[in-house]
Amino acid sequence: MKKLISGIVIIAVGLFLLEHVLGQESDKRNYQYFDDMTQTFAYKTQSTNPHLKSGQTQQASIPGTIPRGYMPLHYGNSEAELVRAGEELVNPFSADTHVARGEVVYQNQCMICHGAGGEGDGPVTKRGFPPPTSLFSEQAVGRTDGQMFHIITYGFKNMPLYASSVDIDDRWFAINYIRQLQVNNLNEPQATSQAPAEGGKE
Ligand code: HEC
Repeated sequence: MKKLISGIVIIAVGLFLLEHVLGQESDKRNYQYFDDMTQTFAYKTQSTNPHLKSGQTQQASIPGTIPRGYMPLHYGNSEAELVRAGEELVNPFSADTHVARGEVVYQNQCMICHGAGGEGDGPVTKRGFPPPTSLFSEQAVGRTDGQMFHIITYGFKNMPLYASSVDIDDRWFAINYIRQLQVNNLNEPQATSQAPAEGGKE
């Protein structure tokens, strides 16, 4: 029995001493057996660095660098910039491509106002939103793709901007779809004559 008790006492004292040596301060790093993983020779991203001109390990990106998948638009939000975008911006996708995707974008984002067929009679126009003019109007047909792109990016009159919900390629695809609607409308004269009657002119 005495042996057992002294055994327990020795173990307890041993554990106490071990704990004292290894884990003295709870807010400090404990004894490290293999420290080569934490104490690396490499500079950490946000540390100072005596070997580089800027004195920092992390280097600033070269002026003009843009994130992958992001393309800045060099046009502001004004009438003059709309005109300039119309003259300079060219649709990178030929008119008959990506029309199916354009239709999806149009039906999801634009239809609520412009109407499923483009006549300006979308569901919100039945609930008090001022109806946009038909996408078959002379003005809309006469717009260049670049102008339409600017309109989707910055909005136009009562139309809010769609830059954050329609990505750049999708804007061009939606334009290709609108062009197809316009061509179909031209080829079907009766659709044009129906437009004012059905369109949200009221
Ligand atoms: C919240 C309603 C609304 C939504 C959604 C909307 N538009 Fe518009 N859009 C308008 C209004 C209002 C006008 C201004 C039309 C006018 O002159 O009366 C307009 C104008 C336009 C014009 C110029 C037409 C012209 O007569 O010159 C184009 C092109 C156009 N929108 C495309 C789009 C596309 C593409 C989308 C989807 C990405 C879209 N719109 C989404 C309301 C909307």
